[in-house]
Amino acid sequence: MKYFILTVLFIILPPVIAWGQDWVVPEERKGRLSTFPFTDETRQSGEKLYLTNCISCHGNPGKGNYINLVPSPGDPATEKIQRNSDGEIFYKLSVGRGQMPSFRNVLTGDEIWHVVSYLRSFNKNYVQKVMQIITSSAYPGAVIMMTVGFNEADSTVIVRASAVDEQKTVPVTGAEVRLFARRYFGMMVIDEEKTTSESGTAVFKIPAGLPGDKEGNIHFSAKFADEDLFGIVSKDTTLMAGEITVPVSLLAERSMWNNVRKAPIWVILTYTIGVIGVWGFIFLIMMKLRDIYIIGSFIQGKKSSEAI
Ligand code: HEC
Repeated sequence: MKYFILTVLFIILPPVIAWGQDWVVPEERKGRLSTFPFTDETRQSGEKLYLTNCISCHGNPGKGNYINLVPSPGDPATEKIQRNSDGEIFYKLSVGRGQMPSFRNVLTGDEIWHVVSYLRSFNKNYVQKVMQIITSSAYPGAVIMMTVGFNEADSTVIVRASAVDEQKTVPVTGAEVRLFARRYFGMMVIDEEKTTSESGTAVFKIPAGLPGDKEGNIHFSAKFADEDLFGIVSKDTTLMAGEITVPVSLLAERSMWNNVRKAPIWVILTYTIGVIGVWGFIFLIMMKLRDIYIIGSFIQGKKSSEAI
């Protein structure tokens, strides 16, 4: 009984507690803005991402057909979601809460902004503010930039971070950088977290045989681990750093239901003989049972005729 009550409490309490609480976003994250303007292109990309990642719970924006959860996901076209600042939406998508999943390791920073741009297309009163420059508290007054390149010779990806101000460009040193590669489901962390060197570079080793697309392209995304200190830069780049991978057709030789090659003769023979053997044995037993029945009724017939 004690455990039953505890279990019920554990199931019921969290949503009830969450229900009563506003989802508060840390002050310094609220003002975060996209570094690029929202366009038809970002909206279309955002719509695609919304259809794969969000529609299952939030429904079609404007239709109110979100699913019934506590707390409620809500319709993105309504005040409930639109009253959030861009930074708040970005934060909530990144971090998640309760049944709302965290998309930090599923979508890149740019992609989350694409989703925000799609959500905002349902708000007629929305006017976008773009972050003009990315600054960091470690390099006051400078704009932080990142480049990502591939070194084919030793199969490494090199991330270079620099801080540019009016007079000069200096390397961003001692900053922890993370590198991700887009996979079918979410983002895969490449190598460990690296710290930028004296020249502002961090070198990531690409695992051997990492599959790319038909041309060997892989979509990479790099960012600082400590975004508060070094700035919220993230750099999305497509590089020819992977193994060329041609998707296998369902009818190709490797699949089970292919129409090219069948199982080897010995497998077919063994299987057929096995099946015939088992069914033959069952048939044999049935015939023996039939014999027993016939003999039984013959003896019984004899006995009853004797009795008369
Ligand atoms: C598994 C269901 C589920 C999926 C998938 C999901 N959400 Fe949510 N979402 C929720 C729930 C439940 C809440 C309410 C969470 C809370 O208030 O604790 C929520 C809350 C939110 C909020 C904050 C609403 C507010 O009141 O401030 C936003 C914004 C949001 N979701 C956007 C998205 C977007 C965009 C996606 C896709 C990238 C997404 N959600 C995917 C269930 C989901």
